[in-house]
Amino acid sequence: MKDLIDKLYNTGNLTDAELEALLLDDSENEYLRKRAEEKRISVYGREVYIRGLIEISNYCKNNCLYCGIRAGNEKAERYRLSTDDILSCCDMGYEAGFRTFVLQGGEDIKQDDDFIVTTVKAIKSKYPDCAVTLSVGEKSFESYKKYRDAGADRYLLRHETIEKCHYEKLHPQNMTLENRVRCLKDLKALGFQVGCGIMVGSPYQELKYIIKDLRFIKEFDPQMVGIGPFIPHKDTPFKEEKAGSVDLTLKLLSIIRLLLPKVLLPATTALGTMSTDGRSRGILSGANVIMPNLSPKAAREKYMLYNNKLNTGIESVEGLNALKKSMEEIGYKVAVSRGDYIK
Ligand code: 5AD
Repeated sequence: MKDLIDKLYNTGNLTDAELEALLLDDSENEYLRKRAEEKRISVYGREVYIRGLIEISNYCKNNCLYCGIRAGNEKAERYRLSTDDILSCCDMGYEAGFRTFVLQGGEDIKQDDDFIVTTVKAIKSKYPDCAVTLSVGEKSFESYKKYRDAGADRYLLRHETIEKCHYEKLHPQNMTLENRVRCLKDLKALGFQVGCGIMVGSPYQELKYIIKDLRFIKEFDPQMVGIGPFIPHKDTPFKEEKAGSVDLTLKLLSIIRLLLPKVLLPATTALGTMSTDGRSRGILSGANVIMPNLSPKAAREKYMLYNNKLNTGIESVEGLNALKKSMEEIGYKVAVSRGDYIK
């Protein structure tokens, strides 16, 4: 197993059969983690990049079966932020040391292209030294182009799973994997730093699908990859499904770091929600980004993608000092910088 891990370290790749062998055998997980950490340090040192996450709306026209803000969840209390609300979050975030703002929301038809463009422009003109990341779902090439022209730097759109039959079990019929991948390609062609990713342990996921996802991630070569455990939400069709594994998520973080040494890889909120030291363990497994919550308090409670989603403590701007301390405890340091992808 150590040979395989060394091969992955040295070449940045493995065959599907080798990936399968590595995923099936947990005896050298600690060695894998160490090698991923070594790779991460060789590229990004011991800096942890922070991104201020602003949850701009929980209205969504989509009905993804796993997600707490799906259109069909009548119990969700809906809200949307205005451009001014979002700018206030940025003001607070800038003061605290954030140099990237991530605008994430459901696919809210009222937050149309004009709204996104106006908001991005407002942030970029007030804070020209900051990066703006968008995460507002599937749009046309033309819409993405407007966002890019307005100055947006990065775009997060998890592909969720690259296996078509799995994708169809997680999403309603009007959503297709084909369109998802089209979006990712358009985003890349427009010059965004792009992030794809999956939920670990989503219902119906199989090991062979995860291997396909890793292959897709390697080949698509995104600048960012977001992965976190699936966590059920009580008001969704998947309420009785079991949550994904923290250990498998950590192992996949390490593998992704070795497949794509330069990737910007967050230790996600879902990982922190599943385990109190999840984010620290994520960083120790090769992750180099943390995304504390900058949303107004009232919004945070309503942006519930899954049960018990964390929004206080080190998950939030108020907890930045605690986050800094927890990073120092494991030998890392929170950086005040945009934290761009290294070309
Ligand atoms: N558990 C974990 N992650 C989820 N997401 C949505 N719902 C859940 C859930 N129940 C993730 C999806 C989406 C991202 C914004 O949040 O991967 O792309």
